[in-house]
Amino acid sequence: MTELELDSVTKVFGDPDGEGVVAVDDVSLTVDDGEFLVLLGPSGCGKTTTLRMIGGLEMPTSGTISFDGVVVNDVKARNRDVAMVFQDFALYPHMDVRRNLGFGLRREKKNLSDEEINSEIEAVAEMLEIEALLNNKPSALSGGQKQRVALGRAIIREPRLFLFDEPLANLDAKLRKTMRTEIDELQSKVGITSVYVTHNQEEAMSIADKIAVMNGGELQQLGTPSEVFNEPTNLFVAQFVGSPDMNLFDATLIRQGDSYRVDTGTLSFDLPAALVDTDAEQVDARIGFRPQDLYQRSMRRTDGPEIEATVRVVEPLGTEAVLYADTSETDITALVSQFHDLGKGDEVTLTIAPEHIYAFEATTERLLKGRLMTERAESEVTGEVEV
Ligand SMILES: Nc1ncnc2c1ncn2[C@@H]1O[C@H](COP(=O)(O)OP(=O)(O)OP(=O)(O)O)[C@@H](O)[C@H]1O
Ligand SMILES: [Mg+2]
Repeated sequence: MTELELDSVTKVFGDPDGEGVVAVDDVSLTVDDGEFLVLLGPSGCGKTTTLRMIGGLEMPTSGTISFDGVVVNDVKARNRDVAMVFQDFALYPHMDVRRNLGFGLRREKKNLSDEEINSEIEAVAEMLEIEALLNNKPSALSGGQKQRVALGRAIIREPRLFLFDEPLANLDAKLRKTMRTEIDELQSKVGITSVYVTHNQEEAMSIADKIAVMNGGELQQLGTPSEVFNEPTNLFVAQFVGSPDMNLFDATLIRQGDSYRVDTGTLSFDLPAALVDTDAEQVDARIGFRPQDLYQRSMRRTDGPEIEATVRVVEPLGTEAVLYADTSETDITALVSQFHDLGKGDEVTLTIAPEHIYAFEATTERLLKGRLMTERAESEVTGEVEV
């Protein structure tokens, strides 16, 4: 049971006084005991470096890493009592599954008898449903089975921390989904504090208690999946989290009494000033509409803008479809449920509730207005009137 804390952790590769690469830049965050933190960000943003510093494989250039309030910067990796799971599984090829599972236990808990070790191996194998594979060599396992053994090897040691670096990257899409649910369930069951690295935002959203979004070595935001989705601190987070991508329009916000008049050139609508985080009379902004929040006006009315668009492509996903369309300003993507009558060249009117609209300051890209949670927003929308 461990609380993990990073305090102003920086890692510079190469000469810190010269032309070093700043891989991790002044990152501070806390992971509570038993919490599942996902480090999320694009390739090269410093995720692996952060994880390796937590595991003791890399030394911070400055800042401290603490387990339960005790600084561990000088503690060697093998004495930190952390278990790491990587994307390449790293099983011992000449050992069968039983010996792969027992190897760490034999090395670290020398007082255990063979009988005790075997009973622990069997308990973990049962938990992961790999009992039937105990006598197989890794070469006789599928990718998913190998990853289960790698997880088993981490769990059996009952470490203070689990560190995962893209553990599912080599698996096919379907297996990734199954395995991520299993990792999630397993982690809740064993309750071990975990840090999980991925560049896949969907994986992060589905598995995390908290997400740390990184870019260029810097922490952009630390929050629950719903916080980073609904209240992204800046445009980068808003664009990195959520799929399909957020639609963005350049706009000017002008204060008029209790509201801001938003003008994009073709769209003009009001946002309640109380929801917009600025005192300025006029702001250059980027306005964001998530595809999930756009409705066809023929299905639902809101107080928000009405966006005329011409359908380019309808991509059915089952009960919904992704609609790619053009407006007079830019293209727009919407996720809509009524799509069977729609085809290329059709005109649609899309609309969005003001509560769901995002706004960012154009220069700083910081959030001016986030998306109110659905429940709250639904009650504030002026009705779902059929027309
Ligand atoms: N040993 C090293 N020596 C020099 N530079 C390094 C070293 N390891 C990482 N870097 C640099 O540090 C930055 C962060 O790398 P890191 O591996 O942490 O990124 P990442 O977020 O894990 O990316 P990916 O998603 O591609 O795995 C990159 O610019 C990388 O080139
Ligand atoms: Mg990496």
